[in-house]
Amino acid sequence: MAFPQTRLRRLRRTGALRDLVRETELAPHHLVQPLFVALTQDAPREPIAAMPGVDRLSISAAAEEARALQERGIPGVLLFGLPADKDEEGSGAWDDEGVVQLATRAIKDACPDLLVIADVCLCEYTSHGHCGLLREGANGLVVDNDATLELLSRTAVSQAIAGADMVAPSDMMDGRVGHMRSELDDHGLTDTAIVAYSAKMASAFYGPFREAADSAPAFGDRRSYQMDGANPDEAVREALLDRDEGADVVMVKPALPYLDIVRRVKDATRMPVAAYNVSGEYAMLKAAAAAGYLDERAAALEALTAIRRAGADIVITYHAKDAAGWLR
Ligand code: PBG
Repeated sequence: MAFPQTRLRRLRRTGALRDLVRETELAPHHLVQPLFVALTQDAPREPIAAMPGVDRLSISAAAEEARALQERGIPGVLLFGLPADKDEEGSGAWDDEGVVQLATRAIKDACPDLLVIADVCLCEYTSHGHCGLLREGANGLVVDNDATLELLSRTAVSQAIAGADMVAPSDMMDGRVGHMRSELDDHGLTDTAIVAYSAKMASAFYGPFREAADSAPAFGDRRSYQMDGANPDEAVREALLDRDEGADVVMVKPALPYLDIVRRVKDATRMPVAAYNVSGEYAMLKAAAAAGYLDERAAALEALTAIRRAGADIVITYHAKDAAGWLR
């Protein structure tokens, strides 16, 4: 049955027909909004230069923002914290009165049904900006994998006790998911889910985030622990390992330059997959839209749909709030 019997344009004729046969759905309930919460500022909101529309929030502004997101049908937020002080170990991360713990309690008070996902990493809390503890190696300082596990798990337990529904380790240490799962369970936190940043690439697209979270490494880079973006097989191994260690959701990050990896991870794990549409992806689109080079709304919805089509169940995006408004 070739042309003229088969005409694919028949089902593209009207909006109703296109809706009827659309293969990929994008709705507010697929989206998670990252929030930056800071103990470093007096103002309720401070703009982030490279991320127009995204602010660093005080604790009470974060609770207010959470309410607005819930009203738009966004199911959850991903919390990043800027502590008042940093140190070598990153002790602000597991402080029970730390910024993410305070924000979690404030958000849960304001909207108990909104899911709080707490990012677990040390880079926002360490004076050197690396994601783990440093030790002297043969060729200078290195991030000590095994010594870091204890601190990450302590952070996750503290966040879970504060009320986080899910903890999301973004550090890329080996073995952290299994370590964290046992520590959570030992503390009776068996219902706290783990969203593992499984295939997190050493990426140039995190630039604006590092300004927002004040988390750029003071020396070197993160290539000795984050993945080489050229390695799809390794990405699948990371995800399968995290699954075996007890992850509830696996993540690929960034999203748009790695859609093939989102698909491979989905097919290999058959687990809920999250994709993180990161700060640089957001900044690119915002800059092009501000210059009048493309239509922000249409481009953002197309990109988010593409991430869903690639196999992401959950899309973490700075566009969540706006997209939820557009999708209404
Ligand atoms: C912390 C972390 C980073 C991001 C999320 N968690 C930055 C990094 O690894 O340097 C990036 C998110 C974004 O760019 O939006 N390890």
